[in-house]
Amino acid sequence: MRQPIFAANWKMNHAPADAAVFMRTFLAHFGKRQDRSVIFFPPALTFGAVVGALKDRPDILLGVQNIHWEDKGAFTGENSASIARASGAKYVLVGHSERRHVFGETDEQVAKKVASATRAGLTAIVCVGETGAQREAGETTQVVLSQLRAAFAHVTNAEAGNVMVAYEPVWAIGTGKTATPLDASTAHIALRAELGRILDSGSLAVPILYGGSVNRGNAAELLGAPDVDGLLVGGASLDAEGWASIVLT
Ligand code: 13P
Repeated sequence: MRQPIFAANWKMNHAPADAAVFMRTFLAHFGKRQDRSVIFFPPALTFGAVVGALKDRPDILLGVQNIHWEDKGAFTGENSASIARASGAKYVLVGHSERRHVFGETDEQVAKKVASATRAGLTAIVCVGETGAQREAGETTQVVLSQLRAAFAHVTNAEAGNVMVAYEPVWAIGTGKTATPLDASTAHIALRAELGRILDSGSLAVPILYGGSVNRGNAAELLGAPDVDGLLVGGASLDAEGWASIVLT
């Protein structure tokens, strides 16, 4: 089994001072371990405070929640993959459902961001997921595979080690409605099969995370489901003790 990955997407929460307090508590509960990976995705302006708080814990990794696809230039308000990399990020979330649905991000933009991330040496975590209406219409597999194919448009076999996938059903994000382990596995198995078609080789090495209303009560069974390699957690990652108990699952 791959080493489980626990990713905390703080979204637009925790100012720098709050993040420093969070890390003091979290690090007191979570000592160094070789058997799991923990990644934090703080807001861009909180990123530096988290880098500082983790300076003695290189085992804990950092990512940004978004990038622009261009490397530099006149894009007010944006950050590029190379700026993120130089600031200490190793990962970037691409195509999160809030980016797609609140900010109108398209499949084409997602593909450009993935390409830009891998060029800059970041690992892109490609988020895919169906809406509640698409699920009720029986379109889950079709929707997530089409998002996956689009996002991987420019990814080569050699870059397979620099991508991950997160299956985050939109209806489960922040709603308290969690996919069952069977729902998650069904989607993950379909995604892995499609990765095999897209990448030829290397698809087995691409971790697939589940996200959507993960909490202390359901983390273990979701993580135990076939082909679930880790968890991408929003709300339940905001409390330091609660998050520590999830990463120690
Ligand atoms: P919640 O865990 O709050 O449902 O958010 C999931 C998510 O969007 C993580 O990226």
